[in-house]
Amino acid sequence: AAVGKGNHRHFMEKELHEHPAVLGDTLRQYLDPGTQAVRLPRLPFDPAAVPRLTISACGSAFLAGLVGRYWIEQLARLPVDADVASEFRYRNPPLPSGGAAILVSQSGETADTMAALRLLKEGGQRVLSVVNVPESSMARESDAAVLTVAGPEIGVASTKAFTAQLAVMACLAIGIGRARGHVSAADEAKLTAALLQVPSHAAEILARDAEIQALAVEVAKARDVLFLGRGSLFPIALEGALKLKEISYIHAEGYAAGEMKHGPIALIDSNVPVIALCPSGPLFEKTASNLQEAAARGGRIMAFTDEEGAGPLSRFAERVIALPRVGAFSTPILHAIPVQLLAYHVAVLKGTDVDQPRNLAKSVTVE
Ligand code: G6P
Repeated sequence: AAVGKGNHRHFMEKELHEHPAVLGDTLRQYLDPGTQAVRLPRLPFDPAAVPRLTISACGSAFLAGLVGRYWIEQLARLPVDADVASEFRYRNPPLPSGGAAILVSQSGETADTMAALRLLKEGGQRVLSVVNVPESSMARESDAAVLTVAGPEIGVASTKAFTAQLAVMACLAIGIGRARGHVSAADEAKLTAALLQVPSHAAEILARDAEIQALAVEVAKARDVLFLGRGSLFPIALEGALKLKEISYIHAEGYAAGEMKHGPIALIDSNVPVIALCPSGPLFEKTASNLQEAAARGGRIMAFTDEEGAGPLSRFAERVIALPRVGAFSTPILHAIPVQLLAYHVAVLKGTDVDQPRNLAKSVTVE
C-alpha cells in the first residue's frame, strides 16, 4: 500500500515523529526486556571471534557506522576500521584472515556500499549488513542481515532509519562485548535497561519541538554553522551538519570538539552559530572548555545538553536545550533526534523542498 503523510506537512516530519515507535520496534527485536539481555539473530559466523571488523557505508548510514565503531571498540575491545564505501577500495586496506565487516544501509541498494560488499567478500571477509529493506541486494548478498525495523522511509534525508541503525549497532556492540567477555551480565542488564528507555526519551524530545523551532529561527539566518561533539557524539555532530546541508542548503561542518582549536576556530565570529552536543558525563568538562574558547571569541553557542549540564553551559551559551539525562551510552541516539529536527525546521523556514532536496536521491545506484 502507498505510504501517506498522514496529517504531517512532509514525510520527513512524519518520519521524525515515528522515532519512538521505530526505536521501540527495533530494540525489542534485539533486546529481551524480561531477561534484560541482548538477543541477536543466529549468525552464520561469530562476529566476536574475528581479529578485526571493517565498517563501511555511505552518507548518514556511514555516520551510524562511526558511532558503532566507538561502541564496539569500547564494549568489545575489538579493533574496528571504518571507511566511507566509495573510498574503501582506494585505501585497499589489508584484510585479516578470518575477518568480518558490517555494512550499514537503509535501502540496501547503494552502489558504493554494494561495491564494498563485493570487495570484502573477495577479500575473504564475512559480511553482516544492517539494512532496512529485507529483500534488498545487500541483504541477499551478505552472509547475514540484521534488520532495522524502521518501516518505509520516504524523505530523502534519513531520520528514523538512522536512529534504528544506531539501535542495532548498540545491540551488536553489547552482544559482541558480552561474547568476548568484556561486558558482564550485570553490565549487559544495565545497558539493555538504558536502551529500552530510549523510545520514551525520544518521545520527550519530540514534545520539546517548540524549543528546537525557536533555535531554528536563529540558525536559519546563518550562512555557516559549526556542529561540535566529542567521543560517540562526534559522528552525531557530523550528522547534524550533513542534515542541515542536505535539506536547508546552509553550509555546515561537523567537528570533533577538541579539533576546533586546530582550524575551525578561525571561522568563529558572531555570525556563526556553534551547535554543541555536550551532555553531562565524562567528556563534559573538556567539551565545555572548548565551547568556552569559542564563546570568548564571540561565537554564539547553542548547546544540547541535559539538566545537569545546563547550569554550567548557560554561563556562556546563548541557548541551552536540556534533553533528558541518560547514561553516556545512549546519548548518540538521543542527540541525533534534535539535530535532525533542527535541520527540518530550518529547511521549512527556508522554504526548501524538504522531502526532495535538490540534487539528492533517496537511493544512489551509481558509483
Ligand atoms: C543517499 C541519501 C542519504 C543516505 C545515503 C545512503 O545519499 O540521500 O540520506 O544516507 O544515500 O543510503 P543507504 O540507503 O545506503 O542508507
